[in-house]
Amino acid sequence: MKPIRIVHLSDFHCDGSPELRTALGRLVDRAIDCDPDLVVVSGDLSADGRPAELDAVAAELERFGPIPRVVVPGNRDLVPSIGPPGEARPLPADSDLDFFLALEPALGFGFDDAPASSVAGPDGDPEVRFTNRFGRLDARFVDPRIQLVAVNSTPRLRSAELERAARRLRRTPEGALRVFVLHHGLLPVPGRKLRDGDLTGRAGDLLALLLELKVDLVLHGHIHRAHAWLVSDGHHQMVVASAGALVNDGRRDASFNEILVDGGRLEVHRRSVATGEPSILFQMTRRG
Ligand SMILES: [Fe+2]
Repeated sequence: MKPIRIVHLSDFHCDGSPELRTALGRLVDRAIDCDPDLVVVSGDLSADGRPAELDAVAAELERFGPIPRVVVPGNRDLVPSIGPPGEARPLPADSDLDFFLALEPALGFGFDDAPASSVAGPDGDPEVRFTNRFGRLDARFVDPRIQLVAVNSTPRLRSAELERAARRLRRTPEGALRVFVLHHGLLPVPGRKLRDGDLTGRAGDLLALLLELKVDLVLHGHIHRAHAWLVSDGHHQMVVASAGALVNDGRRDASFNEILVDGGRLEVHRRSVATGEPSILFQMTRRG
């Protein structure tokens, strides 16, 4: 089967400033140079979800032309941020309470495959603003090589969305890579002190569920650090890859990830936006 190359971009925090727009242009140039089969953008495209910010990002992403794109929103795209740059509004402490309470019946998958997120609503609705420019909040990509499902994790993962993602993953063609995309993290990442709301609610239960669903690769943003973990429940192995950000925090340059899947081989590379140079984050040969 033909190899598949994914570029995983995240956390542009595009605020409409010429500096960030130029940096985003350079990031897209570098990503196009990778000649990807698929572009994944895992949220926080904008600083505050303003139309002008989203328009600037949409115009840059258009430059990928016919290359398929899967774009999920981040907290900043749907909820205005507060505090200094980089400090997103923390999620409410009980933001996921009813989510996993509903998980057990959800595993019965008795629901119709109805649209996850309505695009109907007032013009000022942040979800409408996002979907008008980037498509469904629960975008997916399917071909014989890959079954990718994305979910919106702001303000929390909804059980109905997760059920839908699970049903799709269970229908994955034999031999295809199963990929799950969300904005928030699932695991701590070296070099980043966790803040409230960094990880998606009940991340441990979600990891267990994704392993049960035999997901091969999780792509997320929000943490602003390029890293990849291999996690396993003893039966199945899954790579959880966090992408770097466009915003330069003064210590690290902007980056994105490039993922290559060639037969059983899976590689994750960090790509510097400044130099375009790759550095290997992770490589393995998948079993089975
Ligand atoms: Fe975020």
